[in-house]
Amino acid sequence: MRVDLSQIGMLKGQQYETIITTMDDEGNLNAAPIGVICRGNDKVMCRIFKGSQTLENIISQKEFVVNICENPLLFTWSLLDNLKKEDFMPDNSIKDIDCYFKCEVTSLKEAVKQSDPIKKKSQAIVIKANVVELIIKRPVKVYNRAFGYVLESLVHMSRIDIVDDNQRKYYLNQLKEAYRVVKKVGSKKDKEAMDNIKNKLKEKGFEI
Ligand SMILES: Cc1cc2nc3c(=O)[nH]c(=O)nc-3n(C[C@H](O)[C@H](O)[C@H](O)COP(=O)(O)O)c2cc1C
Repeated sequence: MRVDLSQIGMLKGQQYETIITTMDDEGNLNAAPIGVICRGNDKVMCRIFKGSQTLENIISQKEFVVNICENPLLFTWSLLDNLKKEDFMPDNSIKDIDCYFKCEVTSLKEAVKQSDPIKKKSQAIVIKANVVELIIKRPVKVYNRAFGYVLESLVHMSRIDIVDDNQRKYYLNQLKEAYRVVKKVGSKKDKEAMDNIKNKLKEKGFEI
């Protein structure tokens, strides 16, 4: 059966938060949270900054596994440290993960982007890959960061008139960052929501 990422709610052009697992030349396994963009039913893309173990492994092995879950601890452990050896399966996926898919790299390209809030001219590699196998163990929905940001922005909006100047300044900075992220990773509706918020702020005399 052909791979179809829409089975797990992945839509073309949208970015989702996942945990990518990879192996190095010595067979050591690594897990790291990475945003994955869906490019079609069986194609994905990600952009990984130089210096990460994940990128090194993908360059050397030309394959990786994308793990899908809604477990905050797995994201946290993968970022703050690494998962333990016994947390991985022989096919490099994470043990007892809800869903995962195996990817084979089709292209690796240098990319420099100036709009990220990190060091200027940080270097990254854009990785394009084909999804060769999709394994769904339990029904799961891929996570997209935008809706959380929209809700958080609405909470800030609901308080903007009743806080002091310092707190308002803090909220406006948060709203500005939320606007940037949602414009980058959100759905059409998420983006429209943030535009509504931005316009309402403008009416109130605030620019984000
Ligand atoms: C939710 C989330 C998404 C992330 N997405 C990316 C990404 O798309 N590209 C990237 O280079 N780093 C991304 N990161 C940061 C990497 O996970 C981080 O640099 C990590 O330390 C890399 O680990 P590694 O050296 O084991 O590969 C993300 C982090 C989080 C928490």
